[in-house]
Amino acid sequence: MLAPLLFVWPVSIAVTHYFATAVASYPYDQALRENVNAVARQIKFVNGRPQIALPASARAMLRADEIDHVYFHVLNRKGVKLAGDTELPVATDLDYQADELGEIYFREVEAGGQDLRVAYTYVGEPSMPRERWLLVEVGETLEKRSQLANKIIASVILPQFVIIPLAVVLVWFGLSQGLRPLTVLRERIEARAESDMSPIRTRRVPEELQPLIDAFNAMLERMRGNLDAQQRFIADAAHQMRTPLTGLKTQAQLAMRESDPEELKKSLRQIATGVDRAAHLVNQLLTLARAEASDAAQQSLAPLNLDLLLREQVEEWVMRALDKHIDLGYEPAPPSEIMGSAFLLRELVSNLIDNALRYTPADGRVTCRVVVQGDFVTLEVEDNGIGITEEQAALVFERFYRVDGTGTDGSGLGLPIVREIAELHRAAASLRPNPHERGAIARVVFPRYRPPADRPAFDAQIEGELGGRGLPAAHNPPTGFV
Ligand SMILES: Nc1ncnc2c1ncn2[C@@H]1O[C@H](COP(=O)(O)OP(=O)(O)OP(=O)(O)O)[C@@H](O)[C@H]1O
Ligand SMILES: [Mg+2]
Repeated sequence: MLAPLLFVWPVSIAVTHYFATAVASYPYDQALRENVNAVARQIKFVNGRPQIALPASARAMLRADEIDHVYFHVLNRKGVKLAGDTELPVATDLDYQADELGEIYFREVEAGGQDLRVAYTYVGEPSMPRERWLLVEVGETLEKRSQLANKIIASVILPQFVIIPLAVVLVWFGLSQGLRPLTVLRERIEARAESDMSPIRTRRVPEELQPLIDAFNAMLERMRGNLDAQQRFIADAAHQMRTPLTGLKTQAQLAMRESDPEELKKSLRQIATGVDRAAHLVNQLLTLARAEASDAAQQSLAPLNLDLLLREQVEEWVMRALDKHIDLGYEPAPPSEIMGSAFLLRELVSNLIDNALRYTPADGRVTCRVVVQGDFVTLEVEDNGIGITEEQAALVFERFYRVDGTGTDGSGLGLPIVREIAELHRAAASLRPNPHERGAIARVVFPRYRPPADRPAFDAQIEGELGGRGLPAAHNPPTGFV
């Protein structure tokens, strides 16, 4: 607060100076006006010729000033001095055309090294042409005015020499008193243990700090929730990892005892399957961890064509589908864009297709499509497999949750990964019973991204040709199986 105060001080002195000068000028201007009038009254016109009779008393009155010098003169239009003092310079820049008879005007001049305040007026008869008017000027040095202005300034500034240091001391005192609770609070926070997530006690904190502390406590609460979830996740993950590893070890021990080459081969095959399963679990865990840590990747979201990405993924899964005798289909969609990370969306799509293929028996059907509707772009993976009940559907997005009796193995992390990636894209993921037949339908609803309207039409056209593979909706075949 000291810096602004010190800045305001010179500003206030300048402003005071300006007003003090104006105020000090006013009464002396009035006196000058009287003097001009007194001189002007001494000028008479006889038959249009001026008669100037300045009695000694009038001159004495002008000279009576004890502090300032007062000068006067009477000029005709040509600048010829008819009467008065020589000290007053003859003005060359007065605007005769604009000025009026009898009005009194003021100006500042410099003469013989001193500043003068000059009052002037024109004298003449109303019928006279302007060329014959006479100019009466009375000038005065500025000593009295500056003395008065200085007195005014001093009377304003002097008290400030007391008031400002006093204000500084008071502000200093007030602030250090007012900020004491803040210091106490800081000390309390600094003294906390790292793992201490308990809320800060809010007794005896100043009113202004209350919202800050509430916000801070709410953040602590969220962090505690996060930390708990993380610890639970690590415990679960460790447990899940232990099971396949223990299995592997048992199988290896059994294999070591085996002497029959056929049986040994069988055991080794089992070990290979176990290793695959463990590797899958580790992969899923890593993907989930990466999706969770991708908050910062929010910035790397870029416009992309979901339909195109879905098509690529379907192509990748075709061989697996053929192995299982499942008809894996893809329905093209009209061009549309979402803001997304291609890398994460590939994980999302592949988990959904993996589930659909895994939970659909041989000779089943899986269909993938993108539906564009208003401001939303929906990804759908529909199957006619074993299906899911509404109750289970509410639980399957939990980590490690698996429905019993599906007859397949998995880590129970696929759908949590889907949800995590969907949330990152501000999308909503769901798994529902298929309304048309037996089976399930997984949906992820994304907000649609519309390119800025002013984007050149050329760009849009290029994109239409390269990016949006879909034909206009009316020409789409109802289904397009790959
Ligand atoms: N398309 C589907 N049809 C029927 N049930 C499904 C389908 N998708 C998921 N589920 C059920 O939801 C459960 C959780 O699925 P999720 O993908 O999270 O785990 P997972 O498939 O068991 O393992 P992972 O995908 O990690 O290998 C599955 O165990 C399964 O019972
Ligand atoms: Mg899965």
